[in-house]
Amino acid sequence: MLDKSPRPAVTVPNDLAAHWMPFTANRAFKKNPRLLAGAKDMHYITVDGRKIIDAAAGMWCCNAGHGRTQIAEAIGKQAAALDYAPPFQFGIPQAFELATRIADLAPAGLDHVFFCNSGSEAADTALKMALAYHQINGQGSRTRLIGRVRGYHGVGFGGTSVGGIVNNRKLFGTLLTGVDHIPATYDREKQAFTKGEPEYGAHFADELENLVNLHGANTIAAVIVEPMAGSTGVIPAPKGYLKRLREITQKHGILLIFDEVITGFGRLGYAFAAERYGVTPDLLTFAKGVTNGAAPMGGVLVRDTIHDAFMSGPEHMVEFTHGYTYSAHPIACAAGLATLDIYRDDKLFEHARAIEPKFADAVMTLKGLPNVLDIRTIGLTAGIDLASLPDAAGKRGYSAMEAAFHDNDLMLRIAGDTLALTPPLIINEDQVGEIVEKVGKVIKAVA
Ligand SMILES: Cc1ncc(COP(=O)(O)O)c(C=O)c1O
Repeated sequence: MLDKSPRPAVTVPNDLAAHWMPFTANRAFKKNPRLLAGAKDMHYITVDGRKIIDAAAGMWCCNAGHGRTQIAEAIGKQAAALDYAPPFQFGIPQAFELATRIADLAPAGLDHVFFCNSGSEAADTALKMALAYHQINGQGSRTRLIGRVRGYHGVGFGGTSVGGIVNNRKLFGTLLTGVDHIPATYDREKQAFTKGEPEYGAHFADELENLVNLHGANTIAAVIVEPMAGSTGVIPAPKGYLKRLREITQKHGILLIFDEVITGFGRLGYAFAAERYGVTPDLLTFAKGVTNGAAPMGGVLVRDTIHDAFMSGPEHMVEFTHGYTYSAHPIACAAGLATLDIYRDDKLFEHARAIEPKFADAVMTLKGLPNVLDIRTIGLTAGIDLASLPDAAGKRGYSAMEAAFHDNDLMLRIAGDTLALTPPLIINEDQVGEIVEKVGKVIKAVA
């Protein structure tokens, strides 16, 4: 008979079997778990009470650092006042306020915001919006979507299809049809150990012209790229690359989508990477930092002309047949508003910009350590490529993450054998030094 008695509250579970963890090496994790119980500022606290310095901003999310009481209080207050409101045909003032605040941070022309709950949903929303826009604009033949090799746009069928990471694609059949990819912008021989934008590589954008020649511009709806490819191991855009992509897309009537799920909200020292690079896309996706990771939220910033094209037909009719039960959720909106206040009041984007050169210099001191093949830095982000072990790609990276957590009180993110550093933007110079020193120890430990 099933035991229905209430379970005692425990801080450390003794059965890890039921939770099938996402994007996790489940068997390895469950043999040697990395369990977290708390977080404050630059640190996580483990279930056994250790203080771990966070070199990953959680997962590129917690740009304002952890445990911000302003955000926690806003969430609590909102949950008590209005727990849920239907976002279809009804609204809450906070959603309109947050949309306006986000649009104010974005480059001119990106004046409308469509909310969802994650980066994956934001990518799929932007892709659907692009297809629908062409359809209502009398160019229904534009159905082809173009991504980029090594791109990551989440795990929906749209995002997976335009994504360019083979391991994320190969289990899932044909995915969307009518998708193509431009090449990645990385060439180690020409770009190794670059701080900021590599000089070499603007010409990779010209490959889009080849796809236009192959497929015909009138079949292509949109191109989606990350201004800095994060999940594949921190690949900054080469100088001039994004401008070139903008020129080619404009010339051929193709929509340009920037996936700023990682680069949004200060990661590159600006509200959006579009501002850093002086290139305005037609659609821009965001998530993660919008709520400092404290509540799930994503969204798409949309150019006026695209939004306005939908605003026709009978006024009682839904203009864009898309949305989520939790779009603009009250708790996420409250978290988002409190987060934007902190970014503004603490001048965190400016701080990220100011500390970027020191961060880059410090990380570059790791050059010359065993197995370090390349280091790339951009904004408050760095990718450190380690040589793979023979016949065991990813194993050295995994060992590094374990050594960091268990032996060096450091949280790292890995992408295969690349170590990704992407700390909260509140980081100070001493903490940069501490992280780099710990990463050095980890690299030696896995040599
Ligand atoms: C560029 C980019 N797009 C989309 C996503 C997917 O976001 P989510 O995991 O919130 O669905 C991510 C996640 O890391 C990302 O880096």
